Amino acid sequence: MTYTYHNPTVIEFGKNKIESITNYIPKDSKVLFVFGGGSIKKNGVYEQVIKALEGYDFLEFSGVEPNPTVETMNKAVKLVKEENIDFVLAVGGGSVVDGCKYLVAAALYEGDAWDFLDGSAQPKEALPLGVVLTLPATGSESNSGTVVSRKETNEKRYFFSPFIFPKFAVLDPSVMSSLDDRQLANGLVDAFVHTCEQYITCPNDSLLHDGYSETILKGLVSLAKDWDKRDTYNWQENLMLLANQALNGFIGSGVAQDWATHMIGHELTAFYGLDHGRSLAVVQPQLLRVMFEDKKEKLLQMGQKVFNINDAQETIEKIEELYHSLGVSTNLNDYGIDNKVVSNVTSALEKHGMTAIGENQNITLDKVEEILNLAA
Ligand code: NZQ
Ligand code: ZN
Repeated sequence: MTYTYHNPTVIEFGKNKIESITNYIPKDSKVLFVFGGGSIKKNGVYEQVIKALEGYDFLEFSGVEPNPTVETMNKAVKLVKEENIDFVLAVGGGSVVDGCKYLVAAALYEGDAWDFLDGSAQPKEALPLGVVLTLPATGSESNSGTVVSRKETNEKRYFFSPFIFPKFAVLDPSVMSSLDDRQLANGLVDAFVHTCEQYITCPNDSLLHDGYSETILKGLVSLAKDWDKRDTYNWQENLMLLANQALNGFIGSGVAQDWATHMIGHELTAFYGLDHGRSLAVVQPQLLRVMFEDKKEKLLQMGQKVFNINDAQETIEKIEELYHSLGVSTNLNDYGIDNKVVSNVTSALEKHGMTAIGENQNITLDKVEEILNLAA
């Protein structure tokens, strides 16, 4: 096995950690404090951030929407340039964090920063970014990826850059008490699928990588079983720990990765607005069925190690049951789609150059069609 792994984000984990942001934001910075639709004003997070920023020169930018758009974030880019902002503080879920990752790179770029998302340019620098996470799900708080949409063209694209790793991320599980069941379930499903995308691929020889992934998967299954304890600090703390580790880059280093569920899911969200977690729940079980021959060894291993069963097909049923137990439907028809779904998704994947995806690059557009037809 060979890999390069580097994760520079400082994690401040635990209660009352929001005040620690002052250790990482230079005192003479001009800060832009960015947040979403206002949930942080109802759960005390806004006040804690304002208190920590006392003495700093800072401005606020709010209204970053779920599945952040360039239409919104370009307004923040303009503000950053006009006001000579030199530190960005993202306070929210994956959407605010991702929007700010785009922002910090776009702020130092002369052209239209959609270039990063369509792959025609790579960031060469970025402003420093700090994160206060309010929703454990994406792992974005300590990884180098961002997913941003363009409303005008119904596109949802991503890019990676070492420059957009947050400098620090505060993970205080007590901010989770205000999350509703829908977002908690979405977060659990997202973290579960992140782990699967880096695990249900080809067999590998690393006991560490597989064991690490299985620990994350078992942890998430156990939180789903203990769903009635979701109001407890211990439950929330565990989801925050697991979701962070599911996508901070380690479990995928040096092993095959799939990500086809995500690529198809992103197109569904771009056209029909499905929550990210729900788009994955729709696609993944059917993808595992259609690609069963490629994935059966790892599905069997997952069955044995995570669900205590001895049947690869049954593992897929267990995964689907897990989502249903959280109230997450795996049926496409429950999400307000129309009869153009197959052509919309396959033509968007084609436009984005994703005609052969998955760990073996054999999930072609006809397979995507089969997956979506099974999901409906
Ligand atoms: O906007 P506010 O008012 O903050 O409300 C949010 C939003 O409505 C609310 N929320 C967040 N924290 C809360 C809260 N409500 C009450 N209490 C709290 N403590 O939750 C709603 C959803 O938030 P959002 O940030 O959209 O959710 P999530 O964290 O699931 O992020 C999803 C986005 O991340 C992308 C997804 O595609 C999607 O755009 N992803 C990013 C990845 C990455 N950068 O590594 C990987 C993922 O696979 C994913 O694609
Ligand atoms: Zn995801």
